[in-house]
Amino acid sequence: MKKILVTGGLGYIGSHTVVALQEAGFEVVIVDNLSNSSINVLEGITNITSTSPIFERLDLRVKQDVVDFFKRHTDIEGIIHFAASKAVGESVEKPLLYYENNLNTLIYLLQECMAHSIHNFIFSSSCTVYGEPDKLPITENAAVKEAISPYGNTKQISEEIILDTCQVSEIKSIALRYFNPIGAHHSAEIGELPVGVPQNLVPFITQTAAGLRDTLSIFGNDYPTPDGSCIRDYIHVMDLAHAHVVALQRLLSVKNTANYEIFNVGTGRGSSVLEVVNAFEKVTGEKLNYKIVDRRPGDVVSVYADTTKANTTLGWKAERSMEEALASAWKWEQKIRNL
Ligand code: NAD
Ligand code: WQD
Repeated sequence: MKKILVTGGLGYIGSHTVVALQEAGFEVVIVDNLSNSSINVLEGITNITSTSPIFERLDLRVKQDVVDFFKRHTDIEGIIHFAASKAVGESVEKPLLYYENNLNTLIYLLQECMAHSIHNFIFSSSCTVYGEPDKLPITENAAVKEAISPYGNTKQISEEIILDTCQVSEIKSIALRYFNPIGAHHSAEIGELPVGVPQNLVPFITQTAAGLRDTLSIFGNDYPTPDGSCIRDYIHVMDLAHAHVVALQRLLSVKNTANYEIFNVGTGRGSSVLEVVNAFEKVTGEKLNYKIVDRRPGDVVSVYADTTKANTTLGWKAERSMEEALASAWKWEQKIRNL
């Protein structure tokens, strides 16, 4: 069994990926400082896979702790690096916190990869690097635009750090540029657990339906799109999780054609905010209380992926529908609220 380190493995995308990794036959070690997750997630993972991943509570910003971790675990064959701070608005308020957490942790991990000959590194990047795209759907060759937030900038800089490191070492890396992950594992054992008021659309929708929030605000209906609301590429988190397994297997079997590769991970379909709201109402039978408000500063109009590269080169494609993702998100919300 190959041992894989998953940083941030108790977080939203990390926990679903741990399930997919265990189901694909990998042994998983999770490192997380629980800054944006709960220890209970471990139990959820174990309930699904009947295997408890190894877990160490550790802050990857503490270099000595990272060094010591790799002294204890000498048989790690690959790393999937999710651990980061991800709230766009907060990153504007606290840029140094974001640069410190998202960049230092990456640097320390890559240093240990070099020290211990760990050559397989998967990185969580984001479609945010494309900004407002010139052409849709977006291919991986599209220009990286000036970042709108410190958070977005950390993803751009991280990609550069990885590329530069791959050029002078034996490290092979794949950066996956996620579009908008939504939904939960179908068992409702794990899902998204936003701290405080959710910033993202789908958790806000499910919390509104659950009665935790009064009204969903739809940020703008005067955009140049068919119904006036913004368009995004919403991908089921389990499809995204599987993309990590496939990317890891590509590196482990040395099928990569360059030491650093980038793949878009989306569905290739764009959906407007109003379409998501309507789909949620249809699939759950819940009526959503919503109102149209002003545009949210920093939102791009329309973003969806060209997934040709992932489809043909990775042999991966999103299989689940947006309706399935919304139903699973609602099942999860109902479970955690005891509805
Ligand atoms: P998340 O916050 O749910 O998970 C991140 C996990 O990392 C959390 O469990 C947190 O406790 C942990 N963590 C943070 N800093 C740490 C540190 N210094 N040491 C140890 N653990 C630490 O976020 P997520 O949605 O699962 O996102 C995972 C990754 O994917 C992030 O890098 C994020 O930037 C990226 N991403 C997310 C989205 C999205 O919409 N969710 C989209 C694109 C990219
Ligand atoms: C989706 C759409 C909002 C909430 C963010 C980050 C991005 C990436 C994914 C990490 C937009 C609208 C939202 C609400 C609304 N994360 N909306 N009412 O902004 O596409 O992407 O998460 O890398 O970097 O910026 O996702 O879920 O916040 O918004 O109308 O209460 O829903 O305007 O059009 P976004 P989101």
